[in-house]
Amino acid sequence: MTTSHDLVVIGGGPAGYAAALFASASGLDAGLVEESKLGGTCLHVGCIPAKELLETASVLRTVRQAAEFGVTVGEPVVDLAVSQERKQQVVDGLSKGLTGLLAGRNVTVYAGTGHLGVDHMVTVDGGDPAVLQAPHIVLATGSSPRTIPGFDIDGTLVVTSDELLSITEAPDRVVVIGGGAIGCEFASMLCDLGSSVTLLEAMPEILPGCDADAAKAVRRAFRKRKIDVHVGVLVHGHDPDGSATTVRFGDDGSVEVDLVVVAVGRRPRGDAAGLVGTRVEVDDRGFVVVDDRLRTAEPGVYAVGDVVATPQLAHVGFAEGMFVVRDLLGENPVPVDPSTVPWCIYSHPEVAFAGLTEAAAREAGHDVVVSSHRFMGNGRAMIVGETDGFVKVVAEKGPDGRAGRILGVHLVGPWVTEQLGQGYLAVNWEATVDEVAAFIQPHPTLSELFGETVLSLTGRSLHG
Ligand code: NAI
Repeated sequence: MTTSHDLVVIGGGPAGYAAALFASASGLDAGLVEESKLGGTCLHVGCIPAKELLETASVLRTVRQAAEFGVTVGEPVVDLAVSQERKQQVVDGLSKGLTGLLAGRNVTVYAGTGHLGVDHMVTVDGGDPAVLQAPHIVLATGSSPRTIPGFDIDGTLVVTSDELLSITEAPDRVVVIGGGAIGCEFASMLCDLGSSVTLLEAMPEILPGCDADAAKAVRRAFRKRKIDVHVGVLVHGHDPDGSATTVRFGDDGSVEVDLVVVAVGRRPRGDAAGLVGTRVEVDDRGFVVVDDRLRTAEPGVYAVGDVVATPQLAHVGFAEGMFVVRDLLGENPVPVDPSTVPWCIYSHPEVAFAGLTEAAAREAGHDVVVSSHRFMGNGRAMIVGETDGFVKVVAEKGPDGRAGRILGVHLVGPWVTEQLGQGYLAVNWEATVDEVAAFIQPHPTLSELFGETVLSLTGRSLHG
C-alpha cells in the first residue's frame, strides 16, 4: 500500500526535521524518514555533545582561575565519565523534546532507510517498511566524517569526531589533523582537559574561511596555551607501536601520541537515498546538485543541509529546511545567502562572524574601511578576567570617503558566539555604520565593544 503525504523528507537531522516541522506549521501533511536517530549529527555526534564537553573544559578553566577572585578551591579534577553522563542527559532531553514536537505537529515519522525512486516514490526499508509518495520530496541525508589515506579509523587509536565525543578519559598526548572548526574546538578542549596537543593543518593558516586576523589570534592563543600548532604541513602516515603511534608530517616532522583525531571535513551523503531512476544528480564530491533555490534536476525534489554544497552548519540547515517549504508553497522566499550566514566556533578563545572577511571584501572589489578594537579596555571583559580578543568591523567606503554599509563583523574573545547577533543583523539588514552607531549598548557589557567599534567608523569615538 502506498501512503500519500504533501511532503516527504528523507533524513531527520536539523535540515530535514526543520522542513518537516515548518511544513506542518504551514498546514501540510509531512512524512519524515530517519534511518538512525532523529536529530542527526548535530544532536548526537556534533554541535550539542561537542559544546557540552567544551563546557566542561570551560568550567575547569573558571575553577582554575578562581584564586584570582579570592575564591579558594583545590586543584580541580575532571571525571569525564560524569561529564559524559551529563552530555547524554542533555542529548536525551533534546531528543525527547524533538520527538514530542514532531508528534505534536502530526509529522509521521518512519524509522528506516528511504530510497527515492521514480514518480516521487519513497521506499522505506528497515524499522517501519513503507511505500510513500508525495508531490514534494526533500533530501536531507547529511554528511559523515571524512578520513584520509593512511589513517584508517579504528575507534581507539585513530578516531573522528564521532568517537572522540564519547571519550571517558583525556589522552596524555594527542594529535589533531585538520585545523578547521572541529579540529580547533577539539584541540582547545583536549588542551583544557590536560592533554598535550599537536594540531596539524595543511593550509597556511588554521580556520579557513575566517578573517585572517581572527585565525591568527586563535593560533597565537593556542600557542600561548602550549598547543603545538603546525600550519602548511601534510601528514604522511603513522606507525603504531602498542597503544601509541608516531605520526609523520611535513618535511621531517613526527610526534608520538596516544590518540589521533582526524578532523579534515565532512563528506556529504549524496547517494544515501538511492535516487535510482531519478534525474537527481550527485557530483564527484558527493553533494546533491541543486540550483540557488535548492531544487534538484528532478522537478519537485529539493535537497537541504550538509548534503548540498552550502556551509555545513545546523542553523543553515534549519534555514534551508524552512526555505524549501516556503518555495514549494509559492511564497517566493529569498534564498539563503551562504556569504552572510553566522559562524560560531566554540574554541577558547571563541570566534564568531558574519559577512565578508576583509580579504574577501577587497577581492570582491569593495573599497573598504576597517576598524578593530580589543577587549583589553572593556570593563566587563576585565571583570570576568577574559580580555584577549577583539571586534573587527569591515565596512564599505562610500563615495564621500566615509564608512557606509557594514559588510562583515568578526569577533574573537569571551562569549562572542552569544554576541554575534547584532553583527549578524547589521550585515544582513545591510545597515550602515551611522545607523548602527546610533544604537545604545548596555553598560557594562562585552557587547559595548561592538558599539564602540562601529562608532569609531563614523569618524568619532568615545572610549576607543
Ligand atoms: P573544515 O573543512 O572546516 O576543516 C578541515 C581542515 O582540515 C581544513 O582546514 C583543511 O585544510 C584541513 N585538512 C584537510 N586535509 C588535511 C590533511 N591531510 N592534513 C592536514 N590538514 C588537512 O572541516 P571540519 O573542521 O572537519 O568541520 C566539518 C564541517 O562541520 C565544516 O563545514 C565546519 O564548518 C562544520 N562545523 C562547524 C562547527 C562550528 O561552526 N562551530 C563545529 C563543527 C563543525
